[in-house]
Amino acid sequence: MQTVGGPVVSERTFVMLKPSAVERGLMGEIISRFERKGLKVVAMKLIRMRREDAERLYAVHRGKHFYEQLVSTIAGRRVVVMVLEGRSAISVVRKMLGATDPVNAEPGTIRGDFGLDITDNLVHASDSAESYEYEHRIFFSESDLVA
Ligand code: CMP
Repeated sequence: MQTVGGPVVSERTFVMLKPSAVERGLMGEIISRFERKGLKVVAMKLIRMRREDAERLYAVHRGKHFYEQLVSTIAGRRVVVMVLEGRSAISVVRKMLGATDPVNAEPGTIRGDFGLDITDNLVHASDSAESYEYEHRIFFSESDLVA
Protein backbone atom coordinates (compact mmCIF):
# COMPACT_ATOMS: atom_id res chain seq x y z
CA MET A 1 0.00 0.00 0.00
CA GLN A 2 1.23 3.47 -0.84
CA THR A 3 1.78 5.87 2.02
CA VAL A 4 0.27 9.28 1.38
CA GLY A 5 1.59 12.36 3.19
CA GLY A 6 4.59 10.71 4.77
CA PRO A 7 4.85 8.74 7.99
CA VAL A 8 2.68 9.58 10.98
CA VAL A 9 5.35 11.36 12.95
CA SER A 10 4.56 14.00 15.51
CA GLU A 11 6.91 16.95 15.41
CA ARG A 12 7.19 20.34 17.03
CA THR A 13 7.43 23.82 15.59
CA PHE A 14 8.13 27.27 16.98
CA VAL A 15 5.57 30.00 16.31
CA MET A 16 5.63 33.71 17.12
CA LEU A 17 2.59 35.98 16.90
CA LYS A 18 4.13 39.27 15.80
CA PRO A 19 3.30 42.63 17.43
CA SER A 20 0.49 43.52 15.04
CA ALA A 21 -1.31 40.24 15.79
CA VAL A 22 -1.15 41.04 19.52
CA GLU A 23 -2.04 44.74 19.16
CA ARG A 24 -4.92 44.10 16.76
CA GLY A 25 -6.50 41.53 19.08
CA LEU A 26 -5.92 38.60 16.72
CA MET A 27 -4.22 36.28 19.23
CA GLY A 28 -7.38 34.28 19.96
CA GLU A 29 -8.34 33.97 16.29
CA ILE A 30 -4.90 32.72 15.27
CA ILE A 31 -4.36 30.34 18.20
CA SER A 32 -7.89 29.03 17.67
CA ARG A 33 -7.05 28.13 14.06
CA PHE A 34 -4.06 26.10 15.22
CA GLU A 35 -6.15 24.34 17.88
CA ARG A 36 -9.01 23.60 15.49
CA LYS A 37 -6.52 22.06 13.06
CA GLY A 38 -5.53 19.65 15.84
CA LEU A 39 -2.19 21.09 16.82
CA LYS A 40 -1.35 20.90 20.50
CA VAL A 41 0.08 23.90 22.37
CA VAL A 42 3.00 22.58 24.43
CA ALA A 43 4.40 25.97 25.48
CA MET A 44 3.20 29.56 25.18
CA LYS A 45 3.99 32.97 26.65
CA LEU A 46 3.40 36.67 26.02
CA ILE A 47 6.66 38.61 26.20
CA ARG A 48 8.13 41.98 25.37
CA MET A 49 10.71 41.09 22.73
CA ARG A 50 14.26 42.00 23.72
CA ARG A 51 16.33 43.40 20.89
CA GLU A 52 19.07 40.80 21.38
CA ASP A 53 16.52 37.99 21.13
CA ALA A 54 15.04 39.52 17.98
CA GLU A 55 18.56 39.61 16.50
CA ARG A 56 19.09 35.99 17.53
CA LEU A 57 15.77 34.87 16.07
CA TYR A 58 16.48 36.51 12.72
CA ALA A 59 20.26 35.87 12.64
CA VAL A 60 19.88 33.88 9.41
CA HIS A 61 18.69 37.08 7.69
CA ARG A 62 21.58 39.27 8.90
CA GLY A 63 23.00 41.20 5.95
CA LYS A 64 19.78 41.14 3.94
CA HIS A 65 18.22 44.47 2.97
CA PHE A 66 15.17 43.89 5.19
CA TYR A 67 17.05 42.65 8.30
CA GLU A 68 17.21 45.93 10.22
CA GLN A 69 13.54 46.69 9.65
CA LEU A 70 12.62 43.12 10.61
CA VAL A 71 14.42 43.36 13.95
CA SER A 72 13.28 46.89 14.80
CA THR A 73 9.66 46.02 13.99
CA ILE A 74 9.48 43.46 16.79
CA ALA A 75 12.09 44.74 19.29
CA GLY A 76 10.54 46.26 22.40
CA ARG A 77 7.00 45.20 21.45
CA ARG A 78 4.75 42.44 22.72
CA VAL A 79 4.75 39.10 20.93
CA VAL A 80 3.46 35.64 21.78
CA VAL A 81 5.95 32.80 21.43
CA MET A 82 4.78 29.20 21.43
CA VAL A 83 5.64 25.63 20.60
CA LEU A 84 3.04 23.61 18.73
CA GLU A 85 3.05 19.85 18.30
CA GLY A 86 1.35 17.57 15.80
CA ARG A 87 1.77 15.45 12.71
CA SER A 88 4.07 17.27 10.25
CA ALA A 89 3.55 20.40 12.37
CA ILE A 90 6.30 22.38 10.61
CA SER A 91 4.85 22.19 7.11
CA VAL A 92 1.23 22.25 8.30
CA VAL A 93 1.76 25.52 10.17
CA ARG A 94 3.68 27.10 7.27
CA LYS A 95 0.74 26.26 4.98
CA MET A 96 -1.70 27.77 7.45
CA LEU A 97 0.33 31.00 7.51
CA GLY A 98 0.35 31.41 3.73
CA ALA A 99 2.98 33.10 1.56
CA THR A 100 5.55 35.32 3.29
CA ASP A 101 4.22 38.38 1.48
CA PRO A 102 0.56 38.72 2.53
CA VAL A 103 -0.21 40.22 -0.88
CA ASN A 104 0.48 36.78 -2.35
CA ALA A 105 -1.07 34.75 0.49
CA GLU A 106 -4.21 32.82 -0.44
CA PRO A 107 -7.50 33.68 1.24
CA GLY A 108 -8.09 31.15 4.00
CA THR A 109 -4.52 31.44 5.24
CA ILE A 110 -3.70 33.67 8.22
CA ARG A 111 -1.65 36.16 6.21
CA GLY A 112 -4.15 35.96 3.37
CA ASP A 113 -7.05 36.82 5.66
CA PHE A 114 -5.55 39.41 8.00
CA GLY A 115 -2.47 41.17 6.61
CA LEU A 116 -0.86 43.32 3.95
CA ASP A 117 2.55 44.18 5.43
CA ILE A 118 5.49 41.88 4.55
CA THR A 119 7.63 42.79 7.59
CA ASP A 120 4.82 42.67 10.12
CA ASN A 121 3.17 39.70 8.45
CA LEU A 122 1.39 38.59 11.64
CA VAL A 123 3.05 35.26 12.36
CA HIS A 124 6.48 33.64 12.12
CA ALA A 125 6.98 29.88 12.14
CA SER A 126 10.00 27.60 11.82
CA ASP A 127 10.76 26.45 8.28
CA SER A 128 12.68 23.28 9.24
CA ALA A 129 13.49 20.99 12.15
CA GLU A 130 16.86 22.75 12.47
CA SER A 131 15.17 26.18 12.70
CA TYR A 132 12.79 24.81 15.33
CA GLU A 133 15.68 23.55 17.45
CA TYR A 134 17.46 26.90 17.21
CA GLU A 135 14.43 29.19 17.56
CA HIS A 136 12.55 27.63 20.44
CA ARG A 137 15.68 27.54 22.61
CA ILE A 138 15.92 31.35 22.46
CA PHE A 139 12.68 31.59 24.45
CA PHE A 140 12.08 28.27 26.18
CA SER A 141 13.97 25.75 28.24
CA GLU A 142 13.10 22.05 27.97
CA SER A 143 11.19 22.16 31.26
CA ASP A 144 8.81 24.78 29.75
CA LEU A 145 7.55 22.23 27.22
CA VAL A 146 4.49 20.59 28.71
CA ALA A 147 3.77 17.45 26.72
P1 CMP B 1 9.09 35.50 8.92
O1 CMP B 1 8.34 34.24 8.73
O2 CMP B 1 9.05 36.16 10.25
O3 CMP B 1 10.63 35.20 8.58
C1 CMP B 1 11.49 36.19 8.13
C2 CMP B 1 10.79 37.47 7.80
O4 CMP B 1 11.50 38.32 6.94
C3 CMP B 1 9.52 37.18 7.02
O5 CMP B 1 8.59 36.56 7.84
C4 CMP B 1 9.16 38.57 6.54
O6 CMP B 1 8.53 39.33 7.56
C5 CMP B 1 10.54 39.16 6.30
N1 CMP B 1 10.88 39.19 4.87
C6 CMP B 1 11.18 38.15 4.09
N2 CMP B 1 11.45 38.58 2.83
C7 CMP B 1 11.31 39.92 2.85
C8 CMP B 1 11.44 40.92 1.87
N3 CMP B 1 11.78 40.63 0.61
N4 CMP B 1 11.23 42.20 2.23
C9 CMP B 1 10.91 42.49 3.51
N5 CMP B 1 10.76 41.57 4.49
C10 CMP B 1 10.95 40.30 4.16
